[in-house]
Amino acid sequence: MHHLILLLLSCFASLTHQACNPFDQESLLSFQLYIPSSSLNWPSSGDCCLWEGITCNASGNVTHLWLPSKGLTGTISPSIGNLTHLSHLNLSHNRLFGPLPITSFSTLIQLQILDLSYNSLIGEFPSTLLSNHIKLVNLSSNLFNGLIPSSYFQQAGNLMSFNVSNNSFTGPFPSYSFCSVRLLDFSYNDFSGQIPPGLGNCSKLQTFRAGFNNLSGPLPDDLYTATSLEELSLAVNYFSGSISNGIVQLKSLTTLELYSNQLTGLIPKDIGKLTKLRHLLLHINNLSGSLPPSMQNCTNLTTLNLRVNFLQGDISTFNFSMLLQLRTLDLGNNNFTGNLPSTLYSCKFLTAVRLTSNQLEGQVSPEIVALESLSFLSLSTNRLTNISNAIRSLMGLKNLSTLILSKNFMDEAMPDDDHITISDGFQNFEASGFWWLSTQW
Ligand SMILES: *[C@@H]1O[C@H](CO)[C@@H](O)[C@H](O)[C@H]1NC(C)=O
Ligand SMILES: *[C@@H]1O[C@H](CO)[C@@H](O)[C@H](O)[C@H]1NC(C)=O
Ligand SMILES: *[C@@H]1O[C@H](CO)[C@@H](O)[C@H](O)[C@H]1NC(C)=O
Ligand SMILES: *[C@@H]1O[C@H](CO)[C@@H](O)[C@H](O)[C@H]1NC(C)=O
Ligand SMILES: *[C@@H]1O[C@H](CO)[C@@H](O)[C@H](O)[C@H]1NC(C)=O
Ligand SMILES: *[C@@H]1O[C@H](CO)[C@@H](O)[C@H](O)[C@H]1NC(C)=O
Ligand SMILES: *[C@@H]1O[C@H](CO)[C@@H](O)[C@H](O)[C@H]1NC(C)=O
Ligand SMILES: *[C@@H]1O[C@H](CO)[C@@H](O)[C@H](O)[C@H]1NC(C)=O
Ligand SMILES: *[C@@H]1O[C@H](CO)[C@@H](O)[C@H](O)[C@H]1NC(C)=O
Ligand SMILES: *[C@@H]1O[C@H](CO)[C@@H](O)[C@H](O)[C@H]1NC(C)=O
Ligand SMILES: *[C@@H]1O[C@H](CO)[C@@H](O)[C@H](O)[C@H]1NC(C)=O
Ligand SMILES: *[C@@H]1O[C@H](CO)[C@@H](O)[C@H](O)[C@H]1NC(C)=O
Repeated sequence: MHHLILLLLSCFASLTHQACNPFDQESLLSFQLYIPSSSLNWPSSGDCCLWEGITCNASGNVTHLWLPSKGLTGTISPSIGNLTHLSHLNLSHNRLFGPLPITSFSTLIQLQILDLSYNSLIGEFPSTLLSNHIKLVNLSSNLFNGLIPSSYFQQAGNLMSFNVSNNSFTGPFPSYSFCSVRLLDFSYNDFSGQIPPGLGNCSKLQTFRAGFNNLSGPLPDDLYTATSLEELSLAVNYFSGSISNGIVQLKSLTTLELYSNQLTGLIPKDIGKLTKLRHLLLHINNLSGSLPPSMQNCTNLTTLNLRVNFLQGDISTFNFSMLLQLRTLDLGNNNFTGNLPSTLYSCKFLTAVRLTSNQLEGQVSPEIVALESLSFLSLSTNRLTNISNAIRSLMGLKNLSTLILSKNFMDEAMPDDDHITISDGFQNFEASGFWWLSTQW
């Protein structure tokens, strides 16, 4: 009895769903023609709403074409433009090549989600894609080139996510001021010139990436009013000038990546207001001054990389004991002075520390054994003293696999102490690990 009712119910359910609109079916079949070698198993007849990767609405109009990672090889057929009810199109992770049928895309006025990432598509940005409904565009990891016109963004009033990373787009960075967007990724392209003002109006923007381009000029400081930002990544460009203290308005920031630019001036003095910061990567710039004391308030920091700058000051006065989440610390190739900071030994999760090429002095304290997770330590090219003590202390670090101490301990003899035999200590030095103690290097 129950079964009968269920059966009747399911009959009604399928009756409420009309079979595929024949026009859409024909369009799909000619779409398939363009991708001859694929794992698509669409029959040439039957209800196309039941085919793999197809979703229809209750009237039988095709609304979703969702075929990621299907091994599709070929080009995208112009007949896609006949699927005028399409709201979701996902063809990511296939082997599609050739240009997009740009004029066909202009008829997809219902399109909300477009994911063509990880293919080998070429040609210009489909700016005919002017749908006011569009929410998500992911063209990343293809071979697109040419400009992205600013006018595109003026039409796309509902855009929330825009990822064109890892293509060959060129020309000026598009300006963007009327803004509902949450995610923008322009990284790994060839954009040049400055980032124009406008992003400051994007009050919902959470992720902004434009690293690995040819961008220059000052950092776009109107961005500092986009206070929802959680990730700001502009690494590997030619940005110059200083990092304004205004950046501390971005209170939600967890990742700040500005490495490999030409930035000068100080680390913002109030950076400690960014208490959610986890990753601060400012290495390979021309920053000067000392570590701002307020950085002690960035208690969520796990990665701090400031290497290759002109930073200075007595590092032993900085209180690392508040940065208890630190995993990676790199202050190498600067001009820091003073003793190894004893407060560092509170940071028990540290796995990698590089203080190479500074002017640090004094001895390695036995307290260093508290860093139980440490696997990489480089202290080379400083002015440390007492090599026997150093080795005795460092032998207690059971997870250490790489230790670099070269260019320290000037005029000291290599230790001949019986207690210091490499086979007793440094138990976890693996075949791939290495250690350098040379005083000559
Ligand atoms: C949607 O599909 C129905 C059923 O096939 C069809 O009659 C109708 O014309 C289609 N709607 C549009 C807007 O084309
Ligand atoms: C299906 O989509 C078509 C075209 O967008 C629309 O005209 C029709 O009302 C939709 N049907 C339902 C039940 O939503
Ligand atoms: C497209 O499909 C892939 C694979 O399932 C998925 O990872 C991706 O999130 C989808 N794209 C969108 C915009 O949902
Ligand atoms: C679908 O689009 C193609 C190319 O735009 C066109 O030549 C064809 O006539 C259309 N198919 C139908 C069934 O209208
Ligand atoms: C494309 O980007 C969107 C937004 O970032 C994301 O949701 C989607 O998962 C991405 N697609 C793939 C295949 O990663
Ligand atoms: C953009 O797409 C690429 C893949 O092409 C992905 O690695 C990256 O994480 C995406 N960006 C964002 C912000 O999700
Ligand atoms: C860029 O795209 C290529 C080809 O799809 C892919 O192999 C590579 O991993 C991508 N690189 C990044 C950084 O996303
Ligand atoms: C990089 O930017 C500079 C300065 O804006 C410009 O002169 C140069 O032509 C750009 N290079 C490329 C490859 O776009
Ligand atoms: C922000 O948007 C307003 C209109 O909403 C506009 O007048 C203003 O110029 C925009 N600001 C920037 C920096 O583009
Ligand atoms: C550290 O991050 C967590 C998770 O985002 C957050 O809840 C916490 O408030 C942060 N700590 C501080 C001091 O802001
Ligand atoms: C850290 O934050 C507290 C509370 O906001 C503040 O009183 C203190 O001065 C800050 N410390 C530094 C070194 O800036
Ligand atoms: C490092 O500091 C010393 C002494 O203060 C100074 O002579 C030297 O020029 C500095 N080097 C760099 C690279 O800043």
